[in-house]
Amino acid sequence: MWVIAMRLKEQKVEAIQNDDLLGTSRVEEDYDTAQYKANSRYKVLVVDDERGILDSLEVILKRGGFRFKGFSEPSDALKELENDDSYNILVTDYFMEPIHGDELIEKIRVFNKKIHILLLTGYKDQAPAIETLKRLNIQGYCEKSNNFDQLLLWLYSAVKVLEQNKDIYKLMEKAMNQNEIISELNKSLENSYSSIIESLRLAVDAKDEYTKGHSDRVSYYAFKIGQAMKLTVEELEILTVGGYFHDIGKIGIKDQIITKETRLTDEEFAEIKRHPLKGFGILESNNMFKKILPLIKYHHEKLDGTGYPEGLKDDEIPFLVRIISVADSFDAMMSKRSYRDELGIEKAVSELRKCSGTQFDPKIVEEFIKLIAEKWTEINEEVEEIDRKLANI
Ligand SMILES: [Fe+2]
Repeated sequence: MWVIAMRLKEQKVEAIQNDDLLGTSRVEEDYDTAQYKANSRYKVLVVDDERGILDSLEVILKRGGFRFKGFSEPSDALKELENDDSYNILVTDYFMEPIHGDELIEKIRVFNKKIHILLLTGYKDQAPAIETLKRLNIQGYCEKSNNFDQLLLWLYSAVKVLEQNKDIYKLMEKAMNQNEIISELNKSLENSYSSIIESLRLAVDAKDEYTKGHSDRVSYYAFKIGQAMKLTVEELEILTVGGYFHDIGKIGIKDQIITKETRLTDEEFAEIKRHPLKGFGILESNNMFKKILPLIKYHHEKLDGTGYPEGLKDDEIPFLVRIISVADSFDAMMSKRSYRDELGIEKAVSELRKCSGTQFDPKIVEEFIKLIAEKWTEINEEVEEIDRKLANI
């Protein structure tokens, strides 16, 4: 039987509260207001089948500021912890009936990994194995003694650790919030960037009355070709967005050249030919346009290598670019220009055929012509709808 338990059994709890008895604790005398305040933020659950121990710990811990609840039945303590997860510290006796402290902890750890645990042992040589302490994540153990100095010291340091953990959690929460703010900012930056680029592309189409809606129609035709060729959703998206922005570089070309009704001089044509690279330059700095960059840069390349800016040939021209190129030329042929009337569907199709293999990928031309043959009425109606919508912008 514990010395302390014997003593407590002999004395009433009122006597324990007497300063003379508790005055033997040097640690307790050292409680200052700050420590008391810190302790009062923590709930301690104590389990010991010795009523006397529970009574003395209640007095000592409450005097130290802790919020205390004691149980002499391990199963009651288990129930309490199951129903209330606000306890911060568990102090439990090791040798108890009907179950030992380590068995109790084993059950607690199933649902509560957070609580700090201290095992109380009778003698040093009765301490549980280090493996058990590690496995059950038991933060410490100490011997019962007359004045519980050791226990109080352990509780002090537990409070310190818990306070530090709180600071760490606060910092982590702050960091997470900051990450959220940064990602929100990025999103809003991306949105405003998209709006700027969207205005730019509409401005490009609006530079010339004759090219109004061109990018939207190229985007639509490219999507339809891609769909007919059973491309993936991602590829269709690249075609759609690429269509919208393929001529964005024209924003950097003088209006007089774009709207010129007579034949362009060599110099002027050289200037026009710079728009794919200008467009590439406008969009390359933003990651969100990364996948459409080849469509911007190479949409004027031709299969026979006579295109620009790099004179790429055949497979050197990425497949999606070859689709945009067909869609782009088809819409150009189907639209009125300042220097000519629209060609009309028959002539446009025959031009596609004529340039298949030299300018355009024959497979893509074939697929597009098949689509036109089967669904031109429907496609034409949808294109007219696009134009109607844009007329109101
Ligand atoms: Fe272009």
